Amino acid sequence: VAREREQRRLVILGCGGFIGSHLLDRFLAGDEYSVEGWDRSARRLSPHLGHGDFTFHQGSIADAGAELTRAIEQADAVINLAAICNPAAYNTQPLDVIHANLFDVYPVVQACAASGTWLVHFSSSEVYGRTIASYLPSGGYDDPRLYEFEEQTSPLIMGPVSNQRWTYACAKQMTERLIYAHHKEDGMPFTIVRPLNFFGPRMDHLPGRDGVGTPRVLASFAAALMDRRPLMLVDGGSARRTITSIHDAVDAVELMLGQPGQSQSEFFNIGNPDNELTVARLAEMMRNTFATVTGDDSYRDHPMEHISGTSFYGEGYEDCDRRMPNIDRATLMLGWSPKRSVEEILLETVEEYVSSEAARPDTAAHVD
Ligand SMILES: NC(=O)c1ccc[n+]([C@@H]2O[C@H](COP(=O)([O-])OP(=O)(O)OC[C@H]3O[C@@H](n4cnc5c(N)ncnc54)[C@H](O)[C@@H]3O)[C@@H](O)[C@H]2O)c1
Repeated sequence: VAREREQRRLVILGCGGFIGSHLLDRFLAGDEYSVEGWDRSARRLSPHLGHGDFTFHQGSIADAGAELTRAIEQADAVINLAAICNPAAYNTQPLDVIHANLFDVYPVVQACAASGTWLVHFSSSEVYGRTIASYLPSGGYDDPRLYEFEEQTSPLIMGPVSNQRWTYACAKQMTERLIYAHHKEDGMPFTIVRPLNFFGPRMDHLPGRDGVGTPRVLASFAAALMDRRPLMLVDGGSARRTITSIHDAVDAVELMLGQPGQSQSEFFNIGNPDNELTVARLAEMMRNTFATVTGDDSYRDHPMEHISGTSFYGEGYEDCDRRMPNIDRATLMLGWSPKRSVEEILLETVEEYVSSEAARPDTAAHVD
């Protein structure tokens, strides 16, 4: 059957990650897009391998060479998600983090610049670093101008070099600056996305099950609940985060791709200011959601322990105090606003963790 219009060609780097796998769900559901993707891992890709509009290359973008350059030349847009973006790595594998987020990405930026291909780059809200409020002796959390992040006006404030926790934020910032410089000097079309805590099913590995090492906070809590270990609250769980549904986030990317005139040359915070909570509150909500999903009320009193950031993450750790996005830009330019509540997001995510746990024969005993 002849297609009514040309398919748009996307290259997605890091397509096998959390965000990438959800973008594939959306883009391969219709016939508007064909996707050529790269990832080191195919762990989340089984539903998509074999799809007629999806070509997958397993391996590092650093080794992809001429095949990647050719794909970038032919693409309507490149979405770059490839990264090491796990806080547990920032101060323990700083060289890997800097390479993955800066040096490995630069050839992609250069190839986009050379062919004039639109680069949609996933950066991070971590580029903002800490808030101005956190440096004021009296705090400043009653004035949004001192803690809210706005794409074009907020300063980017990072801690000292010896706090290696900032390797990720700094590498992401430098990549943004390279992209912007190529835009200014070569006219390369770009969009920078700064995500704020996207949560949803398939987020991260669960240690001891489908991966090793400490995952991001949600999967760390889920694994501790399943293993009946205490939830570890780093520095008392006082850091505040805004939680965004992966589905709201995918809506934003779809709106960007559908409206290049509105999304090119823009930086977008993609986050949900209505879903702000402390990590301690997130831990409580995870306990309650586990109780609801499994029917086991003992999860509601599951133990929590406080631990210092240095003991949990090692030397050179320091947290962002608060991350409150201003999302006016995305609303104005894209017509996007996030819709899903934290309760809804956690329910969907925990249901998936619990059902995949139950489907694992060797670990089925962990969840009652
Ligand atoms: N999820 C969030 O809330 C969030 C927040 C801030 C920023 N981001 C950014 O969004 C992007 C995607 O995040 P995610 O949550 O999907 O992370 P993820 O770790 O689930 O996915 C990243 C994927 O990139 C792949 N990858 C890494 N280096 C690669 C390389 N050299 N070659 C090929 N593949 C490589 C990994 O195998 C992984 O599948 C990252 O750039 C991340 O920094 C995400």
